[in-house]
Amino acid sequence: MDKRIWIIANWKSNKTISEALEWLNQVGPKLQKRENIQVIVCPTFSCLPELKKEIQTHAYPIFLGSQDLSPFDKGAYTGEEPAELLKELVNFSIVGHSERREKFGETDEIVAEKVKQTSSSGIESIFCIQGVKTPIPADVKIAAYEPVFAIGTGTPDTPENAQKVALEINSKNPEVNVLYGGSVTSVNCASFVQQQNIKGLLIGKASLDPEEFLKIIENCAKV
Ligand code: PGA
Repeated sequence: MDKRIWIIANWKSNKTISEALEWLNQVGPKLQKRENIQVIVCPTFSCLPELKKEIQTHAYPIFLGSQDLSPFDKGAYTGEEPAELLKELVNFSIVGHSERREKFGETDEIVAEKVKQTSSSGIESIFCIQGVKTPIPADVKIAAYEPVFAIGTGTPDTPENAQKVALEINSKNPEVNVLYGGSVTSVNCASFVQQQNIKGLLIGKASLDPEEFLKIIENCAKV
C-alpha cells in the first residue's frame, strides 16, 4: 500500500526511565527504516530527555511525542509544560485525549488553545476526537478517532465504522490524516489500516510490550 502509516505509542502514566530505555533498546534495533511507516513514542514527560539521547545515539527511526502540553506560553504556570520548552524534546504532542477531557476537565476551548501552542512552536498535534461531533481546530493535520467505549476495554470499534467516521471527517477536513485508537492489538491492527481513510493507529496498552508493539508494526507494514 502506498500510504504512510502512523504507528503511535501512548504509554500514558507508565514506565520508569529505566523501563522506558529497556523498551527502546528492545524495539529500536529491530526497527527498519521504512518509508511508509512512521513510529512515534509518547512517554511521560520525565522519560523524554533520556529517550531522546538514546534515539539520537543509535539513530533509531523513532520520533518522540508528549502526551499533553500547556495551553499557555512559558511563564508563571506552575506545573505546566509549555510547547516553547517541549519543542527541544518532541516533534509531536497528543492533544485532547478523552482521559484528559474526562479526568482533568479539558474543554474544547482548552484543547484548541493547546493546538495553537503546538502550531506556534512547530510541534505537530496528534489531536484526539471521540466522534464526528468533536470540533477539530484549523491547524490540525493528524486526528485520532478514539471512541471512549473502546479505550482500554478490549472492545475496539469495527474497522468499517472507523472508516465511516474517517470518511466523514475527511469530507469536511480533507487535509487531516485520520488515525484509529482504542483496544488496538497485533491481531486487529491490519484490519484498521487496510481501511482507505485510516492512516494509522494510536495504541495504549498494546504499545507497552515491546514484542507486541513490534508485531503491530510488522503486521501494518505488510498491508
Ligand atoms: P488502548 O488506549 O489502546 O489501551 O485502548 C488507546 C488510547 O487511549 O490512546
